[in-house]
Amino acid sequence: MEELESQPGYERPAAFGVGIETASREGRVLATYFPRPNLAEHPLVAAVLSSVVGRAGEAGSYELTTEQIEEALSLLMPTTGDGGNHPSVAVLQPLMKAEALGDDPALQPYRSRRVVATFIRDLDQPPLDAHDVYLRLHLISWRKIQPHGCSLENIFGILPNVVWSNRGPFDSEEFERIRAELIGQGIELEVRSVDKFPRMTDYVVPSGVRIANADNVRLGAHLATGTTVMNAGFVNFNAGTLGPSMVEGRISAGVVVEPESDVGGGASIMGTLSGGGGEVIRIGSHCLLGANSGCGISLGNGCTIEAGLYVTAGARVTMPDGNVVKARELSGRSGLLFWRNSQTGAIEVKERGNTVALNAALHQNKN
Ligand SMILES: CC(C)(COP(=O)(O)OP(=O)(O)OC[C@H]1O[C@@H](n2cnc3c(N)ncnc32)[C@H](O)[C@@H]1OP(=O)(O)O)[C@@H](O)C(=O)NCCC(=O)NCCS
Repeated sequence: MEELESQPGYERPAAFGVGIETASREGRVLATYFPRPNLAEHPLVAAVLSSVVGRAGEAGSYELTTEQIEEALSLLMPTTGDGGNHPSVAVLQPLMKAEALGDDPALQPYRSRRVVATFIRDLDQPPLDAHDVYLRLHLISWRKIQPHGCSLENIFGILPNVVWSNRGPFDSEEFERIRAELIGQGIELEVRSVDKFPRMTDYVVPSGVRIANADNVRLGAHLATGTTVMNAGFVNFNAGTLGPSMVEGRISAGVVVEPESDVGGGASIMGTLSGGGGEVIRIGSHCLLGANSGCGISLGNGCTIEAGLYVTAGARVTMPDGNVVKARELSGRSGLLFWRNSQTGAIEVKERGNTVALNAALHQNKN
């Protein structure tokens, strides 16, 4: 490792991974699957992969040929030959076999697969290409970084719109022709979505979580151990939970929910993408968002929003002493109960912590 790392210009990557790219016939990258994303770890594997692809310190993605994978594995032999468990190397072995990359022969005319090695130099810098975006989304869903732990600037510009089917991704521009040709061969595709993001569980299944409806969790979601996402719950990319939680409502892009909180059925936490405020919303621990409630400010710990009440940032709320403030002035404060006075219609705030506790048995989520 010392020898490889002493090459001129060599820099350890901030993150790297070996991925399997699926591209359209025109070479548009549809998706890249990283079986084992690495964050500031396994520097020897990073150095070996860099050496076989000719990388010094720069960020980028490189095709890995079978010969290069073979070379990398033989360079890594002194460490992997100890009989121990080396998951970051183990991902390379199956990729040596050509058939591991083979697609269904009927689908080969429409897309291609390659192995790539992707290196990120600085996670605070915007992603360079689709591989780079996919590696970042994997790192979040693998819980190696938390939401907002890396730049995701311009990802909507980088990622193509993809048809996600029961047989993997297809180019959306060519899709109707592909479908017609495949139906002619007796192959019917089930289209799950047309989107820039796949569902998380097709790429990452984190331990200790339950997800009742996999369609509702996008790759790049961060689900902590003990999270239960019920059928109507939704978790966007770069958003999620940091501990045991019940998610029956919507966790929009950028939103983070701290441990032991409950996002009730149909509740909405405002994101920043379209029409939401500039503030990145954080829900503290032990909070309860009542069914069909909404939240447009950050909450501290132990807060409750009454079922059916949408607290927008600009809403004027009455404090226990009768003063009226804008809800955004209470952003991040702990121990508040928001309700709409059922007789006057005014939103009122009580200083009363949430007493609702999660049902621990529901969140064990052991295998
Ligand atoms: C806001 C909420 C937490 C209040 O519940 P609570 O703390 O149990 O309060 P209570 O219903 O016992 O009411 C306490 C008092 O406040 C009054 N009160 C409750 N809600 C009120 C309202 N919106 N306006 C005026 N008064 C209200 C009650 O009438 C009662 O008055 P009293 O003390 O004179 O008898 C509850 O109504 C709620 O919305 N919970 C959310 C549950 C949920 O949606 N979970 C997720 C499921 S998916």
